[in-house]
Amino acid sequence: MVNKDKNKLKVLITGGAGFIGSHVVRLFVNKYPNYEIVNLDALTYAGNLENLKDVENASNYSFVKGDITDASFIHKIFSEYQFNGVIHLAAESHVDRSIADPLAFVKTNVIGTMNLLNAAKENWKGQFENKLFYHISTDEVYGSLGESGLFTEETNYDPNSPYAASKASSDHFVRAYGETYGLPYIISNCSNNYGPNQFPEKLIPLFIHNIIQEQPLPVYGDGNYTRDWLFVIDHARAIDLIFHNSEKNKTYNVGGFNEWKNIDLVGLLCRIMDKKLHRQEGASSQLITYVKDRPAHDLRYAIDASKINKDLGWRPSVTFEEGLEKTIDWYLENQKWLKNVTSGAYQEYYKEQYKY
Ligand code: NAD
Ligand code: TYD
Repeated sequence: MVNKDKNKLKVLITGGAGFIGSHVVRLFVNKYPNYEIVNLDALTYAGNLENLKDVENASNYSFVKGDITDASFIHKIFSEYQFNGVIHLAAESHVDRSIADPLAFVKTNVIGTMNLLNAAKENWKGQFENKLFYHISTDEVYGSLGESGLFTEETNYDPNSPYAASKASSDHFVRAYGETYGLPYIISNCSNNYGPNQFPEKLIPLFIHNIIQEQPLPVYGDGNYTRDWLFVIDHARAIDLIFHNSEKNKTYNVGGFNEWKNIDLVGLLCRIMDKKLHRQEGASSQLITYVKDRPAHDLRYAIDASKINKDLGWRPSVTFEEGLEKTIDWYLENQKWLKNVTSGAYQEYYKEQYKY
């Protein structure tokens, strides 16, 4: 939508040093040599410039360290660069941390998004044409499904965790700025991502890390919770398609057509890891430890991604087995990365969260 010609666009990607953001930055830097890609990131515990080593010297890429909760800094950046488009991924993103410290999620996810919206509104005043504020959100805003049904773009918002509530709030503000001020926006709500560079606090990288270390695999409750998993590179492909081709003021659901109960997923992961690590069959599953459930744990997420498929022809390009294998291989080959991110503050978080 923002790119009807192939002119040099200036695109601000927030949260580009994080998990999904780094894959989006890499895709845009490599695919659009004429663009100027600016990655703005505060480099919290979840942000890591190691994720972008391969593109850091590209001539169409620059990194700005900064915090989206700092309104005057954000206004300054907008007037300095004169962006055509924003892809907003910066967020506090982990449900368990939101239960421990909900205010941090309000600050970054709500106030931070407001600062970006205000800066875009002011900076683009009177020239909304060919501008776009693309807000990356989550399916968790819809709350929990029962055993059947799918989230569509029309499903009512019904967030249960502080993380989901903060993302829902930011989505509402984005839409309200579109309605009230005419700010051109798009929102996409995606299911659980997995892949290289994901911080090992979310299920898949945490369990890969713990299997390597032969540490317990803490399964919450009875493990019968269902998530719809999407390989991160397929999410980045969807973001690219939506950014360039969607009509303005639309929302898209993005999902993997790939539902797994946690305990089945963990079983598959254990089997693959046993083979990769040349361990006896069944060795990793011995590490499974049922622990106290997460409060307000959503039973099931599943996305109906037929709209993005119909409008833009998007589908996941890899099967779950392929994606998981690529992911495991990446973590096995990048144990230094794992070691770096799990030193220091990570240990404190881990002890507090799992209290073994
Ligand atoms: P992440 O936690 O890996 O990365 C977040 C990035 O934002 C980090 O680089 C961090 O340094 C940066 N950041 C945090 N607070 C900031 C601030 N105040 N100012 C500037 N930068 C800040 O998250 P992710 O998993 O890559 O998720 C990215 C986006 O996608 C988030 O908006 C999230 O809600 C959404 N999302 C994630 C998933 C998923 O499964 N991971 C699924 C759907 C949607
Ligand atoms: P997570 O990766 O935190 O993503 P989300 O909560 O955003 O879906 O968790 C995925 C599922 O795995 C969720 O049902 C919670 C569960 N889970 C565990 O059982 N143990 C863990 O240690 C973690 C982090 C998650």
